[in-house]
Amino acid sequence: MTQTATTAATATARRDRERFYALETIGCQMNVYDSERMQEALARHGYRPTDDNGLADLILINTCSVREKSAHKMQSAIGKLKVLREHNPDLVIGVAGCVAQQEGAALLRRIPHLDLVLGPDQLMRLPELVAEIRDTRNRRAEVEQTHRKKYQFVRPEAPTDGRVASFVTVMKGCNKFCAFCIVPTTRGREVSKPSTEVVSEIELLVEHGVREVTLLGQNVNSYGKDMRGAELDFAGLLARVHEIDGLERIRFTTSHPMDCSPRLIEAFGELPGLMPSMHLPVQAGSERIVRMMRRSHSVDQIREQIDGLRAARPDIAMTTDIIVGFPGETEQDFQESMALLDEMRFASIYSFMYSERAGTAAARIGDDVPLADKKDRLRRLQSLQDDITSEWMAGHADQEVEVLFEGVSPYRLKDANADGLTPARGGPLQLMGRSPQNLKVHVVANDPKALLTWPGRIGQVQVRRVGRHSLSGELLEMR
Ligand code: SAH
Ligand code: SF4
Ligand code: F3S
Repeated sequence: MTQTATTAATATARRDRERFYALETIGCQMNVYDSERMQEALARHGYRPTDDNGLADLILINTCSVREKSAHKMQSAIGKLKVLREHNPDLVIGVAGCVAQQEGAALLRRIPHLDLVLGPDQLMRLPELVAEIRDTRNRRAEVEQTHRKKYQFVRPEAPTDGRVASFVTVMKGCNKFCAFCIVPTTRGREVSKPSTEVVSEIELLVEHGVREVTLLGQNVNSYGKDMRGAELDFAGLLARVHEIDGLERIRFTTSHPMDCSPRLIEAFGELPGLMPSMHLPVQAGSERIVRMMRRSHSVDQIREQIDGLRAARPDIAMTTDIIVGFPGETEQDFQESMALLDEMRFASIYSFMYSERAGTAAARIGDDVPLADKKDRLRRLQSLQDDITSEWMAGHADQEVEVLFEGVSPYRLKDANADGLTPARGGPLQLMGRSPQNLKVHVVANDPKALLTWPGRIGQVQVRRVGRHSLSGELLEMR
């Protein structure tokens, strides 16, 4: 290579090294996990993260389309970027995730200042596509879905951020096609990650300080079904992961009631490292509505499953999802959702107004519950659940809980009378950890080295205050 060519190559490399990206993640844990993989790929190509869009050479939004509201978030985020693009013609603006998958090239037509549309199966091509767009200014939509036989999970790198808890994707996609849901379209069919890969991924995390993993999948408990018996089932995977040395806690999300097998229920009684918390979406309390939602289970079956889970693990915190205003939902149907919450006493719920998604089965029925009724039902549902959650939280008063410490708490204790959950300047430092039921617990750091020594360890904590959704207390002893 000539001197000039070497200098030019060095200059290009330096320019490449100094590029910045800004990434916003909307949506579920799948997107959080995918965003981490994109960040790793960008870092390998010399990109550094920035929160300042004005500084960025690449602005990327990882999107969600599960409800109109989430899709709107992308729209408003991207609208604000138009002016940046006008001032910086080299800027590359991209949309990844579920809106990208669903709309594809149509998104490029609709948003003239958008350069790249990237589906979830294509995310590893990000650096290569961005470089190409920068050089050619050719806009690209890459949304091909990989056939399950050819699908390869992206292997995460060792974490360098000192995290104690981490997500681990164990399967992707969904085969269920619930009438209201767009996910099977955006994420494709179910593909399980081979258990050997899951285990080596977790071993790597544990080597780098991780003590808790949450196994992820849209229907995590249908794990292995696509492998036709050649793979472990989900309960088998949990047992295998449970054997990993140095891993203290296992969680998983999200479960579909159809695959909540007796073996899985038994696992809660058999595996002490499997934490007593489970998210099991019921969607509605009316059998008629659940049938119309094509959920392939009955409300009664869920009742039995929850009873079974509580028998196996009496301290289990159950959470769920409820949709109000599904097409055809009457006040009577809605009352059955209210009655179900009243009966089941979930620790907390996620509740949503039905949002019609083009291309789903429910979109063909028509969105016939007036918005005012949906809002009113959501308000009543949430108010009922607030009381149930408060009652469940109150059960923690004066209890001792085992807390796995994660890091510094954003809250500082104001004074002796403060609730301990209010952000305040000054005051003693608190560390944050989680209880087995996945509640955040803020604990005063009576040891000046706590920030260095507590994260990753489990302590016995005496609860002193119960907040709306978190606890605070003092450390009794470290295990
Ligand atoms: N795979 C998970 C759910 C993923 S989507 C499961 O089956 O449990 C997360 C939640 O979003 C769903 O449980 C549902 O309550 C809600 N949701 C999905 N589509 C929706 C829509 N069109 N309108 C309102 N809520 C919706
Ligand atoms: Fe959507 Fe149903 Fe699949 Fe969950 S199981 S992702 S709600 S289609
Ligand atoms: Fe949203 Fe896609 Fe997750 S639609 S909920 S980001 S799978």
